[in-house]
Amino acid sequence: MPTQADVMEKIVALCRRRGFIFGSSEIYGGIGGFWDYGPLGTELKRNIKDAWWNDCVRNPPPGPNGIEYQMVGVDCSIIMNPKVWEASGHVGGFKDPMISCRQERCKKLFRADKLFIIGFYDQADIDDAEPVIEEAQGIATRDRQEANTLIQSLPHSHIPRFMKTLEADTPEDAVSQVPFDSLSHSVRRQFRGNPCPACWRLDRPLPPSWPPARCPICGGELTEARAFNLMFETHAGALQDSSSKVYLRPETAQGIFVNFPNVVKTSRVRLPFGIAQIGKAFRNEINPRNYTFRSREFEQYEIEFFCHPSEAAMWYEYWRDLRHKWYVDLGLRSDKLRLRDHEANELAHYAESCADVEYDFPFGLSELEGIANRTDFDLKAHIEKSGKDLSYFDDQRKERYVPYVIEPSGGVDRSVLAFITEAYTMDEDRASPEFMNFHPRLAPIKAAVFPLVAKDGLPEIAEPVYREIKKHVPCQYEAKQSIGKRYARMDEAGTPFCFTVDGQTKEDDTLTVRDRNDASQIRIDKSRCVEYLRDRLGL
Ligand code: GAP
Repeated sequence: MPTQADVMEKIVALCRRRGFIFGSSEIYGGIGGFWDYGPLGTELKRNIKDAWWNDCVRNPPPGPNGIEYQMVGVDCSIIMNPKVWEASGHVGGFKDPMISCRQERCKKLFRADKLFIIGFYDQADIDDAEPVIEEAQGIATRDRQEANTLIQSLPHSHIPRFMKTLEADTPEDAVSQVPFDSLSHSVRRQFRGNPCPACWRLDRPLPPSWPPARCPICGGELTEARAFNLMFETHAGALQDSSSKVYLRPETAQGIFVNFPNVVKTSRVRLPFGIAQIGKAFRNEINPRNYTFRSREFEQYEIEFFCHPSEAAMWYEYWRDLRHKWYVDLGLRSDKLRLRDHEANELAHYAESCADVEYDFPFGLSELEGIANRTDFDLKAHIEKSGKDLSYFDDQRKERYVPYVIEPSGGVDRSVLAFITEAYTMDEDRASPEFMNFHPRLAPIKAAVFPLVAKDGLPEIAEPVYREIKKHVPCQYEAKQSIGKRYARMDEAGTPFCFTVDGQTKEDDTLTVRDRNDASQIRIDKSRCVEYLRDRLGL
């Protein structure tokens, strides 16, 4: 039974082998946190963005109680006046706690809030030990010796037998990474029979000594945590001083907020309505990880939906449920998806409510999209900073007000990774043991046409069939290699149907259609290929 790490490794290998995703600038050794999409990945990503634009902007379903609403798009610049980021709070507050290894040869950087110390105990009931350990953690910031004495006062069975600092998103993920093989036999036996991991999330600043947080890579000593702003800086113009400092946008949302009055004035939108944008965003993540999941350059699809404050709760629920359903409709299995409402203590200071759509990746449950009721926070912040009036006159209500905003904000690259992960299927019993079970709307190539052999007049029949199909859907033609290899390549690309012209085609004008998922084959008339695809793909 392959582990989750094995599955992830196979997915990464297939993506590389088949040209879905490459590391950026690979010939120079790559660059952490940046990725390139190859031919298949580019088509897949485009299909995802097109599906989003169509389903959310061009043809959204009716609102709650059948209310009609308008959606329009914008495409804003990546570099904006830096005052935008002062008003939005990003200059002051878009920071992660960074910590680094002191060892000269390592010097690796970590996010302090993503390091966990895992301890394992001899027995399950450590309730009475935990307060002592917590106290020791507090004391350790002042006096390591005193902290150690306190720990030694615990009954032997309550002293952690094994401790390790691990990098992870959650304590559960950290526990799942524990390298069992490195544990002594007795600790392993006790852990297996009596699984009681205790973990502490390290608060900022990290306690400098006991429990001794060590570098997860080399075991070296770590520095104190310090705040690190995630925005990439550059300069606009020839002068490279503080007056020309600008930022690469860390989210697309602010371009929408500052254009709110432009859109209201120039298009015929009336509240409630939404402005959507798809575009690149940049964050200088301290530790990009989990393949493309946390990158430094990525794409977002964001909607800012403007409504009357009294209707914000209703629209929040509408968008939260709609966005969750969108992922299910495009093939993410609902038991792998979770719609998680944030606890009150998790909410950002500007958000009245927030929920995350999370997907169960091989590296754990992780966020694909957040849906938040951002109240009037952003528009008011820009009113204050710019001195411009961003309020809205509602001629139905005869009222002027600053609208509330519901924001569904998703990551395109995270969706690509989720759809790839979901599509990846292994079946050792078939000739092509790996195939990508993409939803027909997302499949990069919808059909392939093969002559069984590249002679005997078969290519002359197959080529016109291919040319007809590609007028309607993305299609590929391939005449070389054994038919089994050609099917396997298309299975790995996730192509739903392959049409093969063989000797019988010359006699009765039929060809075979092979189904990617079960490898079954039927014969149809060669003139019916497009119609067949329309029916089966639902396009
Ligand atoms: N305007 C709100 C906003 O930007 P966010 O939760 O910081 O909210 C929204 O980001 C989405 O952008 C996330 O749900 C995620 O899908 C994507 N995202 C954020 N940081 C990312 C990163 N480093 N790499 C890839 N995607 C990222």
